[in-house]
Amino acid sequence: MVAHKRIGILTGGGDAPGLNAVIRAAVLTAEHVYGWEVIGILEGFDGLYHRLPPVELNERAVRDLLPRGGTILGAANRGSPFHHPRTQTDGSVVYEDVSHEALERMQSFGLDALIVAGGDGTMSIAWKLVQMGARIVGVPKTIDNDLGRTETTFGFETAVTTATEALDRLQTTAESHHRVMVLEVMGRDAGWIALQSGVSGGADAILIPEIPFDIDTVCQKIEQIQLTGRRYSLIVVAEGARPRNGEQRYHINDQKQGGKRLGGIGHQVGQMLGDKIDSEVRVTVLGHVQRGGQPIPSDRWLATRFGAQAVHLVANEQWGMMVALESSRMVAVPMSEAATTKTVDPQGEMVQMARELGIVFG
Ligand code: F6P
Repeated sequence: MVAHKRIGILTGGGDAPGLNAVIRAAVLTAEHVYGWEVIGILEGFDGLYHRLPPVELNERAVRDLLPRGGTILGAANRGSPFHHPRTQTDGSVVYEDVSHEALERMQSFGLDALIVAGGDGTMSIAWKLVQMGARIVGVPKTIDNDLGRTETTFGFETAVTTATEALDRLQTTAESHHRVMVLEVMGRDAGWIALQSGVSGGADAILIPEIPFDIDTVCQKIEQIQLTGRRYSLIVVAEGARPRNGEQRYHINDQKQGGKRLGGIGHQVGQMLGDKIDSEVRVTVLGHVQRGGQPIPSDRWLATRFGAQAVHLVANEQWGMMVALESSRMVAVPMSEAATTKTVDPQGEMVQMARELGIVFG
């Protein structure tokens, strides 16, 4: 018989479709299997050191969560208890380590353990707290699918579905107007969303961070297509892509807005193509549309498996471990390794297959 516990759950970093399914599965497993209480910490780690009142989570509270995007707990995407900005009376900002306040807060909530769902940044904070004695287990999350210690993450398939739908829609209008359509998608330094949506949506060129591109190769592809009688083309550009001998582009570089954020390469590619080819070029930046909305069933399924498994890690007192998918099975890996990145192999089978279909990578 496992003793009664009170466990907390928080969601950190950018949201991903499926986070609510994690929360739901954790609550139901904690209640049904172990008879534990669960509380939700609001706004990621901010909820601990900003002393936000937690919310009670029970079967009733999580009833309708499966189709809901985002996270009912809120997710702070910047700031860390180890580097917390405090504004001085003269207006200047100093950074302080308030991690002890976060730990004290966990104690004052009567928490026996905490489940933290987040990406590499959130896991590295959680890992530092574990080293200070906190009892934390992790659930990996990102739409970018770039976490090396798990086969995949929930949210990714939903993002790919949204990007593929966008390409399907762009195809019809591209065809009507004989245009070249450029679609910029997210993914940070990994080209997974671009690659999978590009192949699934019939793109002619896919530009990813792992393969710096030559715009002339893309122009040649567009001209070849036109010679076959097709007068439109679809180009997918990952936000982290860059031209050979060029730099990645950031559309935000401001501490108040969360620091640096990739973006803008879609318009740059549009401009470069427009300067070199006769066809009209239009650019669409998909942005946060691919992070919002309902998770597709496969993401609900993976998120549910992760949420349930995280509760079992708590029962086994596997502090500092994170659930992960390995060979389609649930495993536990050290949180400290969450930041290991997984990028597209330029020489790998997937890129090779896409090239054989006629897709160019620039
Ligand atoms: O990591 C997820 C992600 O959506 C990236 O693909 C993107 O670069 C970034 O987050 C955007 O962050 P924000 O929501 O802070 O603009």
